[in-house]
Amino acid sequence: MHYKRIVLNSRPVADIEPTTFRTEVLPLEKLKPGPGEVLIQITWLSLDPAMRGYIRDARSYLPPVKIGETMRGMSLGVIVEVGTGSTHSVGEVVTSASGWTEYAVMKDNAVDKVTVPPGVIALDFLNTLGTSGLTAYFGLRDTCDLKPGEKLLVSGAAGSVGSVACQLGKRAGAKVYAIAGSPEKCKWLEQELGVDKALNYKSPTFRDDLRQIGFIDVYFDNVGGDILDMVLTRLNKGARISMCGAISQYNATQPKGLQNYQTLIAMRGKLQGFIVLDYAAEFPVAIEEMGKWLADGSIKRQFHIVEGIEAAPVALPMLFSGGNTGKLVVKVAEHVKTKL
Ligand SMILES: NC(=O)c1ccc[n+]([C@@H]2O[C@H](COP(=O)([O-])OP(=O)(O)OC[C@H]3O[C@@H](n4cnc5c(N)ncnc54)[C@H](OP(=O)(O)O)[C@@H]3O)[C@@H](O)[C@H]2O)c1
Repeated sequence: MHYKRIVLNSRPVADIEPTTFRTEVLPLEKLKPGPGEVLIQITWLSLDPAMRGYIRDARSYLPPVKIGETMRGMSLGVIVEVGTGSTHSVGEVVTSASGWTEYAVMKDNAVDKVTVPPGVIALDFLNTLGTSGLTAYFGLRDTCDLKPGEKLLVSGAAGSVGSVACQLGKRAGAKVYAIAGSPEKCKWLEQELGVDKALNYKSPTFRDDLRQIGFIDVYFDNVGGDILDMVLTRLNKGARISMCGAISQYNATQPKGLQNYQTLIAMRGKLQGFIVLDYAAEFPVAIEEMGKWLADGSIKRQFHIVEGIEAAPVALPMLFSGGNTGKLVVKVAEHVKTKL
Protein backbone atom coordinates (compact mmCIF):
# COMPACT_ATOMS: atom_id res chain seq x y z
CA MET A 1 0.00 0.00 0.00
CA HIS A 2 1.13 3.55 -0.72
CA TYR A 3 0.33 7.02 0.61
CA LYS A 4 0.74 10.54 -0.75
CA ARG A 5 2.43 13.54 0.79
CA ILE A 6 2.99 17.00 -0.61
CA VAL A 7 6.41 18.57 -0.27
CA LEU A 8 7.84 22.01 -0.94
CA ASN A 9 9.36 21.89 -4.41
CA SER A 10 10.53 25.49 -4.90
CA ARG A 11 10.15 28.84 -3.15
CA PRO A 12 7.79 31.21 -4.97
CA VAL A 13 9.05 34.77 -5.44
CA ALA A 14 5.53 36.27 -5.37
CA ASP A 15 2.29 34.27 -5.84
CA ILE A 16 2.22 30.53 -5.18
CA GLU A 17 2.85 28.73 -8.47
CA PRO A 18 1.97 25.29 -9.89
CA THR A 19 5.63 24.29 -9.33
CA THR A 20 5.74 25.42 -5.68
CA PHE A 21 4.69 21.99 -4.41
CA ARG A 22 4.98 18.43 -5.68
CA THR A 23 3.31 15.17 -4.70
CA GLU A 24 5.30 12.15 -3.59
CA VAL A 25 3.95 8.60 -3.41
CA LEU A 26 5.63 6.46 -0.76
CA PRO A 27 5.23 2.92 0.65
CA LEU A 28 3.02 2.93 3.74
CA GLU A 29 4.73 -0.10 5.33
CA LYS A 30 7.85 2.03 5.94
CA LEU A 31 5.82 4.33 8.20
CA LYS A 32 6.07 2.49 11.54
CA PRO A 33 5.50 4.18 14.90
CA GLY A 34 8.48 3.74 17.24
CA PRO A 35 8.29 3.74 21.07
CA GLY A 36 6.12 6.62 22.29
CA GLU A 37 4.87 7.37 18.76
CA VAL A 38 1.64 6.95 16.83
CA LEU A 39 0.67 6.45 13.21
CA ILE A 40 -2.15 8.79 12.15
CA GLN A 41 -4.37 8.56 9.11
CA ILE A 42 -5.17 12.16 8.20
CA THR A 43 -8.81 12.98 7.47
CA TRP A 44 -8.76 16.79 7.14
CA LEU A 45 -6.17 19.52 6.58
CA SER A 46 -6.43 23.17 7.58
CA LEU A 47 -5.26 25.70 4.95
CA ASP A 48 -3.95 28.96 6.40
CA PRO A 49 -2.49 32.24 5.09
CA ALA A 50 0.51 31.68 7.39
CA MET A 51 1.59 28.91 5.00
CA ARG A 52 2.82 31.59 2.60
CA GLY A 53 5.19 32.66 5.38
CA TYR A 54 6.29 29.08 6.14
CA ILE A 55 7.68 28.70 2.60
CA ARG A 56 9.55 32.02 2.63
CA ASP A 57 13.23 31.79 3.54
CA ALA A 58 13.04 34.46 6.23
CA ARG A 59 13.24 34.77 10.01
CA SER A 60 9.82 34.35 11.65
CA TYR A 61 8.14 32.71 14.64
CA LEU A 62 8.72 29.26 13.05
CA PRO A 63 11.65 28.17 10.85
CA PRO A 64 10.95 28.01 7.09
CA VAL A 65 9.86 24.68 5.58
CA LYS A 66 12.88 23.26 3.74
CA ILE A 67 12.83 22.29 0.05
CA GLY A 68 11.80 18.62 -0.12
CA GLU A 69 10.12 18.68 3.31
CA THR A 70 6.44 17.83 3.83
CA MET A 71 4.47 21.09 3.76
CA ARG A 72 3.69 22.24 7.31
CA GLY A 73 0.07 22.44 8.46
CA MET A 74 -2.44 21.39 11.09
CA SER A 75 -4.61 18.34 10.52
CA LEU A 76 -7.35 16.24 12.00
CA GLY A 77 -6.87 12.48 11.87
CA VAL A 78 -7.40 9.12 13.49
CA ILE A 79 -4.72 7.02 15.19
CA VAL A 80 -4.42 3.71 13.32
CA GLU A 81 -1.36 2.22 15.07
CA VAL A 82 0.54 2.93 18.29
CA GLY A 83 4.18 2.25 19.18
CA THR A 84 5.22 0.53 22.40
CA GLY A 85 4.51 2.57 25.51
CA SER A 86 2.38 5.13 23.68
CA THR A 87 -0.13 6.92 25.88
CA HIS A 88 -2.60 7.13 22.98
CA SER A 89 -4.93 4.44 21.62
CA VAL A 90 -5.98 3.23 18.20
CA GLY A 91 -9.20 4.96 17.11
CA GLU A 92 -8.51 8.26 18.88
CA VAL A 93 -9.36 11.38 16.88
CA VAL A 94 -6.44 13.82 17.12
CA THR A 95 -5.13 17.12 15.85
CA SER A 96 -1.45 17.55 15.04
CA ALA A 97 0.98 19.50 12.91
CA SER A 98 1.34 16.49 10.62
CA GLY A 99 1.60 18.57 7.47
CA TRP A 100 0.20 17.74 4.04
CA THR A 101 0.28 13.96 4.11
CA GLU A 102 -2.22 11.12 4.11
CA TYR A 103 -0.39 9.34 6.95
CA ALA A 104 2.10 10.57 9.55
CA VAL A 105 4.16 9.16 12.39
CA MET A 106 4.09 11.64 15.27
CA LYS A 107 5.48 11.68 18.79
CA ASP A 108 2.89 11.22 21.56
CA ASN A 109 3.44 14.71 22.91
CA ALA A 110 2.98 16.30 19.48
CA VAL A 111 -0.56 14.96 19.20
CA ASP A 112 -3.69 16.35 20.89
CA LYS A 113 -6.63 14.05 21.55
CA VAL A 114 -9.89 15.66 20.47
CA THR A 115 -12.77 15.25 22.87
CA VAL A 116 -15.72 16.58 20.95
CA PRO A 117 -18.13 18.45 23.25
CA PRO A 118 -21.87 17.99 22.68
CA GLY A 119 -23.28 20.05 19.82
CA VAL A 120 -20.02 20.51 17.90
CA ILE A 121 -18.12 18.40 15.36
CA ALA A 122 -14.50 17.24 15.29
CA LEU A 123 -13.83 19.51 12.29
CA ASP A 124 -14.52 22.54 14.50
CA PHE A 125 -11.09 21.79 16.02
CA LEU A 126 -9.50 23.03 12.78
CA ASN A 127 -11.65 26.16 12.84
CA THR A 128 -13.50 27.87 15.69
CA LEU A 129 -11.99 25.57 18.33
CA GLY A 130 -8.61 25.50 16.56
CA THR A 131 -6.04 28.12 15.71
CA SER A 132 -8.45 30.30 13.71
CA GLY A 133 -11.06 30.80 16.42
CA LEU A 134 -8.46 30.97 19.17
CA THR A 135 -6.63 33.71 17.27
CA ALA A 136 -9.77 35.84 17.28
CA TYR A 137 -10.43 35.00 20.95
CA PHE A 138 -6.98 35.85 22.33
CA GLY A 139 -6.27 38.68 19.89
CA LEU A 140 -9.48 40.45 20.87
CA ARG A 141 -8.97 39.74 24.55
CA ASP A 142 -5.34 40.82 24.85
CA THR A 143 -4.67 43.44 22.18
CA CYS A 144 -8.03 45.21 21.80
CA ASP A 145 -9.35 46.07 25.28
CA LEU A 146 -12.80 46.25 23.65
CA LYS A 147 -15.56 47.84 25.75
CA PRO A 148 -19.34 47.67 25.30
CA GLY A 149 -20.62 50.37 22.97
CA GLU A 150 -17.25 50.87 21.24
CA LYS A 151 -16.88 50.65 17.48
CA LEU A 152 -14.95 47.59 16.33
CA LEU A 153 -13.85 47.27 12.71
CA VAL A 154 -12.69 43.86 11.41
CA SER A 155 -10.97 43.26 8.06
CA GLY A 156 -10.82 39.87 6.35
CA ALA A 157 -14.16 39.59 8.13
CA ALA A 158 -15.67 36.73 6.10
CA GLY A 159 -12.66 34.49 6.71
CA SER A 160 -12.12 32.00 9.50
CA VAL A 161 -10.44 34.36 11.99
CA GLY A 162 -12.38 37.47 10.98
CA SER A 163 -15.82 35.85 11.19
CA VAL A 164 -15.13 34.77 14.78
CA ALA A 165 -13.70 38.20 15.67
CA CYS A 166 -16.91 39.85 14.40
CA GLN A 167 -19.11 37.55 16.47
CA LEU A 168 -17.02 37.88 19.62
CA GLY A 169 -17.17 41.64 19.14
CA LYS A 170 -20.97 41.50 19.11
CA ARG A 171 -20.91 39.30 22.22
CA ALA A 172 -18.76 41.93 23.94
CA GLY A 173 -21.45 44.55 23.22
CA ALA A 174 -19.50 46.45 20.57
CA LYS A 175 -20.91 47.96 17.41
CA VAL A 176 -19.26 45.80 14.77
CA TYR A 177 -18.25 46.87 11.25
CA ALA A 178 -16.82 44.36 8.83
CA ILE A 179 -14.70 44.63 5.68
CA ALA A 180 -14.85 41.88 3.04
CA GLY A 181 -14.30 41.44 -0.68
CA SER A 182 -17.73 40.81 -2.24
CA PRO A 183 -21.43 41.72 -1.89
CA GLU A 184 -22.20 38.06 -1.06
CA LYS A 185 -19.69 38.03 1.80
CA CYS A 186 -21.08 41.34 3.09
CA LYS A 187 -24.62 39.92 2.98
CA TRP A 188 -23.50 36.82 4.94
CA LEU A 189 -21.80 38.98 7.54
CA GLU A 190 -24.84 41.21 8.05
CA GLN A 191 -27.63 38.67 7.71
CA GLU A 192 -26.10 35.52 9.23
CA LEU A 193 -23.44 36.80 11.62
CA GLY A 194 -25.28 39.94 12.69
CA VAL A 195 -22.61 42.61 12.12
CA ASP A 196 -23.99 46.15 12.12
CA LYS A 197 -22.60 47.01 8.70
CA ALA A 198 -20.34 45.23 6.21
CA LEU A 199 -18.28 47.16 3.66
CA ASN A 200 -17.03 45.76 0.36
CA TYR A 201 -13.45 47.01 -0.05
CA LYS A 202 -13.57 46.27 -3.79
CA SER A 203 -16.48 48.71 -4.26
CA PRO A 204 -15.55 52.08 -5.87
CA THR A 205 -17.36 53.76 -2.96
CA PHE A 206 -15.32 51.98 -0.24
CA ARG A 207 -13.43 55.08 0.92
CA ASP A 208 -16.72 56.97 1.38
CA ASP A 209 -18.40 53.94 2.93
CA LEU A 210 -15.62 53.80 5.50
CA ARG A 211 -16.09 57.51 6.29
CA GLN A 212 -19.82 56.95 6.77
CA ILE A 213 -19.27 54.68 9.79
CA GLY A 214 -17.40 57.44 11.65
CA PHE A 215 -14.24 57.10 13.73
CA ILE A 216 -13.44 53.71 15.22
CA ASP A 217 -12.13 52.58 18.59
CA VAL A 218 -10.69 49.17 17.71
CA TYR A 219 -9.43 47.77 14.41
CA PHE A 220 -8.84 44.01 14.26
CA ASP A 221 -6.66 43.82 11.17
CA ASN A 222 -6.21 40.68 9.11
CA VAL A 223 -5.10 42.28 5.87
CA GLY A 224 -2.62 45.17 6.36
CA GLY A 225 -1.57 47.23 3.31
CA ASP A 226 -3.79 49.95 1.81
CA ILE A 227 -6.81 49.17 4.00
CA LEU A 228 -4.75 49.51 7.19
CA ASP A 229 -3.35 52.79 5.87
CA MET A 230 -6.86 54.07 5.19
CA VAL A 231 -8.14 52.98 8.61
CA LEU A 232 -5.24 54.80 10.28
CA THR A 233 -6.95 58.07 9.23
CA ARG A 234 -10.22 56.98 10.89
CA LEU A 235 -9.12 56.44 14.50
CA ASN A 236 -10.84 57.72 17.61
CA LYS A 237 -8.73 59.02 20.51
CA GLY A 238 -7.14 56.07 22.33
CA ALA A 239 -7.81 53.63 19.46
CA ARG A 240 -6.27 50.17 19.47
CA ILE A 241 -5.16 48.30 16.35
CA SER A 242 -4.63 44.58 16.66
CA MET A 243 -2.18 43.39 14.01
CA CYS A 244 -3.47 39.88 13.57
CA GLY A 245 -2.31 39.47 9.98
CA ALA A 246 -1.40 41.28 6.78
CA ILE A 247 -2.54 38.92 4.03
CA SER A 248 -2.53 41.66 1.37
CA GLN A 249 1.28 41.76 1.68
CA TYR A 250 2.17 38.05 2.02
CA ASN A 251 2.84 37.55 -1.69
CA ALA A 252 4.59 40.89 -2.15
CA THR A 253 8.31 40.89 -2.90
CA GLN A 254 8.50 44.31 -1.21
CA PRO A 255 5.71 44.83 1.38
CA LYS A 256 4.14 48.32 1.29
CA GLY A 257 4.92 50.81 4.02
CA LEU A 258 2.33 52.92 5.85
CA GLN A 259 1.75 56.61 5.09
CA ASN A 260 -0.74 57.57 7.79
CA TYR A 261 0.93 56.23 10.94
CA GLN A 262 1.28 59.69 12.47
CA THR A 263 -2.41 59.58 13.39
CA LEU A 264 -1.33 57.15 16.10
CA ILE A 265 0.53 60.02 17.76
CA ALA A 266 -2.29 62.55 17.52
CA MET A 267 -4.93 60.02 18.61
CA ARG A 268 -2.74 58.39 21.30
CA GLY A 269 -3.30 55.11 19.44
CA LYS A 270 -1.69 51.72 19.88
CA LEU A 271 -0.76 49.17 17.23
CA GLN A 272 0.12 45.72 18.55
CA GLY A 273 0.95 42.37 17.02
CA PHE A 274 0.41 38.96 18.63
CA ILE A 275 0.87 35.26 17.87
CA VAL A 276 -1.80 32.79 18.96
CA LEU A 277 0.73 30.05 19.79
CA ASP A 278 1.82 32.09 22.81
CA TYR A 279 -1.55 31.32 24.43
CA ALA A 280 -1.30 27.50 24.16
CA ALA A 281 -1.56 27.02 27.94
CA GLU A 282 -4.95 28.77 27.90
CA PHE A 283 -6.40 26.96 24.87
CA PRO A 284 -8.46 24.42 26.89
CA VAL A 285 -10.39 27.14 28.73
CA ALA A 286 -11.12 29.05 25.51
CA ILE A 287 -12.13 25.84 23.70
CA GLU A 288 -14.59 24.98 26.46
CA GLU A 289 -16.11 28.45 26.39
CA MET A 290 -16.35 28.75 22.60
CA GLY A 291 -17.58 25.13 22.33
CA LYS A 292 -20.64 26.15 24.36
CA TRP A 293 -21.29 29.14 22.08
CA LEU A 294 -21.01 26.94 18.99
CA ALA A 295 -23.35 24.37 20.51
CA ASP A 296 -26.01 26.94 21.45
CA GLY A 297 -25.77 28.49 17.97
CA SER A 298 -24.65 31.91 19.19
CA ILE A 299 -21.37 31.52 17.27
CA LYS A 300 -21.86 30.46 13.64
CA ARG A 301 -19.31 29.07 11.24
CA GLN A 302 -18.96 28.07 7.63
CA PHE A 303 -16.53 25.65 5.99
CA HIS A 304 -15.20 25.88 2.45
CA ILE A 305 -14.30 22.28 1.61
CA VAL A 306 -12.04 21.01 -1.16
CA GLU A 307 -11.54 17.29 -1.72
CA GLY A 308 -8.38 15.18 -1.86
CA ILE A 309 -4.86 15.91 -0.63
CA GLU A 310 -3.75 16.99 -4.10
CA ALA A 311 -6.30 19.82 -3.94
CA ALA A 312 -4.27 21.50 -1.15
CA PRO A 313 -1.67 23.29 -3.35
CA VAL A 314 -4.39 24.35 -5.80
CA ALA A 315 -6.72 25.61 -3.06
CA LEU A 316 -4.13 27.49 -0.97
CA PRO A 317 -4.04 30.49 -3.39
CA MET A 318 -7.82 30.91 -2.84
CA LEU A 319 -6.97 32.53 0.49
CA PHE A 320 -5.18 35.27 -1.43
CA SER A 321 -7.84 35.72 -4.13
CA GLY A 322 -10.76 35.67 -1.68
CA GLY A 323 -12.21 32.43 -3.07
CA ASN A 324 -13.16 31.17 0.39
CA THR A 325 -15.94 32.18 2.77
CA GLY A 326 -15.27 30.84 6.26
CA LYS A 327 -12.67 28.17 6.96
CA LEU A 328 -10.81 26.59 4.03
CA VAL A 329 -10.21 22.88 4.66
CA VAL A 330 -9.17 19.85 2.62
CA LYS A 331 -11.02 16.59 3.05
CA VAL A 332 -8.30 13.95 2.76
CA ALA A 333 -10.24 10.82 3.73
CA GLU A 334 -13.60 9.72 5.12
CA HIS A 335 -13.69 9.23 8.88
CA VAL A 336 -11.48 6.20 9.37
CA LYS A 337 -12.91 3.06 10.95
CA THR A 338 -10.35 1.18 13.04
CA LYS A 339 -10.52 -2.18 14.81
CA LEU A 340 -10.88 -1.13 18.45
N1 LIG B 1 -1.47 36.42 14.66
C1 LIG B 1 -1.77 35.12 14.66
O1 LIG B 1 -1.42 34.36 15.56
C2 LIG B 1 -2.59 34.58 13.51
C3 LIG B 1 -3.10 33.27 13.54
C4 LIG B 1 -3.90 32.83 12.48
C5 LIG B 1 -4.16 33.68 11.40
N2 LIG B 1 -3.61 34.94 11.39
C6 LIG B 1 -3.87 35.86 10.29
O2 LIG B 1 -5.26 36.10 10.23
C7 LIG B 1 -5.60 36.49 8.89
C8 LIG B 1 -6.83 35.72 8.46
O3 LIG B 1 -6.50 34.33 8.39
P1 LIG B 1 -7.63 33.25 8.06
O4 LIG B 1 -7.04 31.92 8.29
O5 LIG B 1 -8.87 33.61 8.78
O6 LIG B 1 -7.84 33.44 6.49
P2 LIG B 1 -9.21 33.74 5.80
O7 LIG B 1 -9.64 35.10 6.30
O8 LIG B 1 -10.13 32.61 5.95
O9 LIG B 1 -8.85 33.88 4.26
C9 LIG B 1 -8.14 34.96 3.81
C10 LIG B 1 -9.10 36.09 3.31
O10 LIG B 1 -8.35 37.29 3.22
C11 LIG B 1 -8.95 38.13 2.27
N3 LIG B 1 -7.90 38.76 1.44
C12 LIG B 1 -7.00 38.14 0.66
N4 LIG B 1 -6.22 39.04 0.05
C13 LIG B 1 -6.65 40.26 0.44
C14 LIG B 1 -6.26 41.58 0.14
N5 LIG B 1 -5.26 41.85 -0.72
N6 LIG B 1 -6.91 42.60 0.73
C15 LIG B 1 -7.94 42.36 1.58
N7 LIG B 1 -8.37 41.12 1.90
C16 LIG B 1 -7.73 40.08 1.34
C17 LIG B 1 -9.83 37.24 1.38
O11 LIG B 1 -11.19 37.60 1.59
P3 LIG B 1 -11.88 38.80 0.75
O12 LIG B 1 -12.78 38.17 -0.24
O13 LIG B 1 -12.59 39.55 1.82
O14 LIG B 1 -10.77 39.57 0.08
C18 LIG B 1 -9.59 35.83 1.91
O15 LIG B 1 -10.75 35.04 1.89
C19 LIG B 1 -4.36 36.25 8.04
O16 LIG B 1 -3.69 37.47 7.84
C20 LIG B 1 -3.53 35.34 8.90
O17 LIG B 1 -2.16 35.42 8.62
C21 LIG B 1 -2.86 35.39 12.43
